[in-house]
Amino acid sequence: MEATGHIQAEKLTKNFRKVQAVRGIDLEVAPGEIYGLIGPDGAGKTTTIRMLAGVMKPTAGIARVSGFDTTRQAEKLRLQVGYMAQRFSLYGDLSVRENIEFYADIFGVRGPEREERIQRLLRFARLEEFQGRDAGVLSGGMKKKLGLACALIHRPKILFLDEPTNGVDPISRREFWDILSDLHIDGVTIFISTAYMDEAERCSRVGLMYQGEIIRQGSPAELRQLVRGDLIAIVTSDLTRTELLVAKTEGVVEVQVYGDRLHVFVDDATKRQAEIENALTAAGVGIKQIRRAAPHLQEAFISLVTHQDKG
Ligand SMILES: Nc1ncnc2c1ncn2[C@@H]1O[C@H](COP(=O)(O)OP(=O)(O)O)[C@@H](O)[C@H]1O
Ligand SMILES: [Mg+2]
Repeated sequence: MEATGHIQAEKLTKNFRKVQAVRGIDLEVAPGEIYGLIGPDGAGKTTTIRMLAGVMKPTAGIARVSGFDTTRQAEKLRLQVGYMAQRFSLYGDLSVRENIEFYADIFGVRGPEREERIQRLLRFARLEEFQGRDAGVLSGGMKKKLGLACALIHRPKILFLDEPTNGVDPISRREFWDILSDLHIDGVTIFISTAYMDEAERCSRVGLMYQGEIIRQGSPAELRQLVRGDLIAIVTSDLTRTELLVAKTEGVVEVQVYGDRLHVFVDDATKRQAEIENALTAAGVGIKQIRRAAPHLQEAFISLVTHQDKG
């Protein structure tokens, strides 16, 4: 069967003994998309990816991935998709090259094509000069790139990546995303979970997962627009007092703390900024910075989850 690169799920559900990990989600991902699943720990991202990759059976619902039924044709499916598990493991005492060769064996990649692909992946993952090194001594970022190279040995049309850059430094994360961009250009469908909002911004579409459900879905720009009201960013000499004063100000919808900065959502920034400035000045709080800002996905997410909890 021809792999289509298409992902479809209907009412996909997974219950563990006491936990409803995934609660009947519907999904449709077009070939060539980069779909990002974002959400806090325990939201159900890993369970969703496992079911879509054909490594875990759903309790209910169905999914078709690249034309295969993920339950009835799981074995065939697994040969068609690339899957990098959240805690994937490499063989630490095998070299970089040997790890890739190991996956080539598993997926039956033989003949002249084998060496060609290994070379190409080493180049692609910028690991050529490290091919003889033991995988166990690689940096965190290089391990992730090697994991990705292994997941690509059989040239899948769909790639499932479960928090592939978790715990990796920002420069390596950017490099990893450069590689994903190349795959995207090649037409590979990428389904990726992440806890990093800056990564979600790089996806063509994002699903916000929370307590087993996809509570919102859309392009990063669409999701940013779901933030209610205008955003004012404030830095002052006294964060705690500022928070208290701001919360009491009329027209304030929500206050979020980012390090030493407050993000204040208001009904009308032009009007409220002056009022907040006056209130802070009157209370003797020194204003270091106050300005109107554009909401990021992170704010959108927190805002949506907060309102979800309130019902
Ligand atoms: N094998 C399992 N057995 C029992 N509960 C599980 C299992 N895997 C996941 N869970 C539970 O299901 C929920 C979703 O987990 P998971 O899919 O790993 O979320 P995420 O990847 O978003 O952190 C969590 O409450 C988790 O504890
Ligand atoms: Mg997970």
